[in-house]
Amino acid sequence: MIRWTFYTTVILIALVSCVSSSEKDTEKEGIVSSGELVNARRSRAELANLMRDLYTDLQTSRVQVKEGANPKLSILDKYAWIKEANPTDAEDSGPVFEAYADGFIQSLRGLENTSDADVVKNYNLLVNSCIGCHQQYCIGPLDIIRKLEIK
Ligand code: HEC
Repeated sequence: MIRWTFYTTVILIALVSCVSSSEKDTEKEGIVSSGELVNARRSRAELANLMRDLYTDLQTSRVQVKEGANPKLSILDKYAWIKEANPTDAEDSGPVFEAYADGFIQSLRGLENTSDADVVKNYNLLVNSCIGCHQQYCIGPLDIIRKLEIK
């Protein structure tokens, strides 16, 4: 049972980590195994923790939006510090990253203040803002982020 939980956890982490599997294989040739590497990545960065919370919040919102409700979010404060959060990789910063972050904050505000009629539109705009940044900075979780979209 413990063993099963352990493997499930490893699989879940592997799914959401930034590193694509081929990169992971390359890094595996270094001193740490890919499992250790992913776990090490997991323990530190504020940005990674922020992202995990964000992903969970969006999963909840998606259910509400699909049911035709306005999620009436008030999570802007929770994520507005995205530009200050320490990333795992120092390259995930700088003016281009900040521009994506500003777009994300704007989309978050758009969904928080949406009229009932535009909930789906504004929800998908927010997911698009995730996708835009992730195409540039962190392609690993793109598949699971795309699944947040409401078709
Ligand atoms: C401005 C850029 C940017 C935006 C916008 C953004 N992300 Fe991220 N995301 C990142 C970066 C960079 C990482 C890697 C963080 C790290 O490892 O420190 C990341 C990591 C993640 C992860 C993996 C976390 C982990 O466990 O390592 C998930 C899942 C994720 N983002 C989901 C989302 C979702 C959902 C949204 C939109 C609601 C979103 N992201 C918006 C840049 C962004």
